Amino acid sequence: MSPALAVQATARLRADGIDPSHLAVVGGALDGVERVLGAWLRPGDRVAVEDPGYAPLFDLLSAMDMAIVPVSLDEYGARPDSLAQALARGCAAVLLVPRAQNPTGAAWNKARTEDLPAVPAAHPDVLVVEDDHAADVAGAPAFTITAGRSRWVTIRSASKSLGPDLRLAVMAGDAVTVARVEGRRALADAIARADQAYRILQQVSEARTELAD
Ligand SMILES: Cc1ncc(COP(=O)(O)O)c(C=O)c1O
Repeated sequence: MSPALAVQATARLRADGIDPSHLAVVGGALDGVERVLGAWLRPGDRVAVEDPGYAPLFDLLSAMDMAIVPVSLDEYGARPDSLAQALARGCAAVLLVPRAQNPTGAAWNKARTEDLPAVPAAHPDVLVVEDDHAADVAGAPAFTITAGRSRWVTIRSASKSLGPDLRLAVMAGDAVTVARVEGRRALADAIARADQAYRILQQVSEARTELAD
């Protein structure tokens, strides 16, 4: 992450009560969700998801072979009783949209963020993913329920404020989760570079053969 972006992200996240100690850049909120689920979950794992929700998120979970466990909503987002039922079914992760929930527009208020954390608190190993896709332009204040969790991320996308083609989001999370996401990206980059080097060597080899003929 560029130092300038890190300074901006750190200040904004800290002001909203989100721990900015470990940050990563991802290619949008959806990319961040895929990377973080890929870092911890396996095909067949159960994921608690707000229903109704953002259709591409359901497509992503299906493509990753995750089992979707629905969580119902009211105007303040995920309902604690419904989340409790979902987590009791043995979910490995929960995906929550704190504000500008799609398609309902629901947003957490202070009361909801006081009631909701007790539910995942009973499941300390569950990965909590906050998909703050609209971030600063959500039209609702920022809240988080990640404090004190061992596995968590908050993903803030620039898609709504700066444009979806930018494919930029900042992910804050616990040290291990962010390291796993970064580690996989470094591996993918290394493979891409090795692939490029192989192609160049192949071209050099072909050129030498042609010259020799
Ligand atoms: C709830 C939700 N999550 C994620 C996204 C996708 O965000 P991004 O463009 O940052 O991947 C959207 C887009 O509207 C959304 O509504």
